Amino acid sequence: MLPAYLPNPIAALVGGGTPIDLGRNFSDGKRVFGDGKTFRGLIIGIFAGIGIGIIQIWVTGAYGWENLPEQTFMSITLLATGALLGDLCKSFFKRRLGKERGAKWPIADMYDLVAGALLLVLIVDPGWLFANITLMIFILILIITPILHRAVNIIGYRFRVKEVPW
Ligand code: CTP
Ligand code: MG
Repeated sequence: MLPAYLPNPIAALVGGGTPIDLGRNFSDGKRVFGDGKTFRGLIIGIFAGIGIGIIQIWVTGAYGWENLPEQTFMSITLLATGALLGDLCKSFFKRRLGKERGAKWPIADMYDLVAGALLLVLIVDPGWLFANITLMIFILILIITPILHRAVNIIGYRFRVKEVPW
């Protein structure tokens, strides 16, 4: 799941500049995505996810760790892209509910990237999903995600990368 987990923290580190919605409002008068979703964060975040995936492919190949899910260039690209598309979708609905950028939305803020990543893999490469994400691994992902999410956000807040510790 590293190619899915890395894009958001990297986006938080490097994000900024032109927002994906170009500052425009939706028909309800609120921002489409908000200033927290930028082209720079999206693109560099996706490349970072693919980058860590390439390292994973190389390391697992070099060391023959057969029990780890076998990443492919397709799977890492889908995981990284899906993670940030899920994050983007979440922000769309967050704005529709009238929540400001950075406001707390507990379950959605934690699982957006998992839902986006796994859904994109399910749509484009379901064979990889069912061969590698077993029920056991899926349950593990559900348990680990909120813990990682919380820990990384507290670190990001301490180092002033994020304005809020969630
Ligand atoms: N970020 C970005 N581009 C993205 C995603 C994230 O630039 N596509 C950066 C933004 O600087 C953002 C930070 O990463 O503020 C943290 O991301 P996130 O918590 O997802 O955004 P929020 O600011 O909390 O906005 P929202 O309320 O829409 O989730
Ligand atoms: Mg947030």
